[in-house]
Amino acid sequence: MLKTTFLDYTYANPLMNASGVHCMTMEELDQLVDSKAGALITKSATMAARAGNPEPRYSDVPLGSINSMGLPNHGIDYYLDYALNYQKNQQAPLFFSVAGTSVQENLQLLQKIQESEFNGITELNLSCPNVPGKPQVAYDFPLTEEILTKVFSFFTKPLGVKLPPYFDMAHFDQMAAILNKFPLVYVNSINSIGNGLYIDEQSDEVVIRPKGGFGGIGGEYVKPTALANVRGFYTRLNPEIKIIGTGGILTGQDAYEHLLCGATMLQIGTQLHKEGPAIFERINNELEEIMKKKGYQTIDEFRGKLKTID
Ligand code: FUM
Repeated sequence: MLKTTFLDYTYANPLMNASGVHCMTMEELDQLVDSKAGALITKSATMAARAGNPEPRYSDVPLGSINSMGLPNHGIDYYLDYALNYQKNQQAPLFFSVAGTSVQENLQLLQKIQESEFNGITELNLSCPNVPGKPQVAYDFPLTEEILTKVFSFFTKPLGVKLPPYFDMAHFDQMAAILNKFPLVYVNSINSIGNGLYIDEQSDEVVIRPKGGFGGIGGEYVKPTALANVRGFYTRLNPEIKIIGTGGILTGQDAYEHLLCGATMLQIGTQLHKEGPAIFERINNELEEIMKKKGYQTIDEFRGKLKTID
């Protein structure tokens, strides 16, 4: 009932982890393989391993989470080793995330993937809000176009981009016009809402150490923004560019709403961090229940069919 075709492969369901959650180590990635997630993605890799920002740098809060991880990861070689081994044993294509901290590093990362035997799907993360002194790339429209132009001069494998949330119709128009110039296979909306602040009411203190407590916000707080971004890009992008919906998925109803807005795959970050990989079975069951009640046999029957008021 939940089968989802993405590129040339049909996954058992559309659910995945969001990059950054439960995907830093090979052990965590293996736990996702063994879960009821339809697909999985690796932690955004940089060329060299990074320790990331000082702790505490992630906090679950009542309506979601705040984080300023700072791209801690084991470096691209670690994740490429995992990916090459994974694809010997698994048929479902792996999603592989990279996030350079400069244009040059992004190009080096993608060059390395291009030259490797990796045959899955690559995600270029243009939206990390947590590296001090490095603004979120995809808020700089000319820079985004420059990077994609350079990338597609040599990169021939399937590539998607992870975007930050946009908040203005003009920005949806402008970013979609840029993205439509390139043979992207997907857009992933949204990364966390960057640079929020959460204050503990007992101690009057922030809850994470980096950047004076500023960090990316996820979870329930972000669902309306995530849905707007999924819808905003679904209605503007060439139909060849699929949408991965990320942000505020806690229940089957949230998953259903992302699909209604046009998402093909769905990623879960904050609530996966809270519940662990058992969440995928729960959300799959809840989504199936909703589909049964509404009389749908397949996701394709309602994907993108959000109703608006005349
Ligand atoms: O700080 C981090 O590692 C988060 C990355 C992201 O949100 O893309």
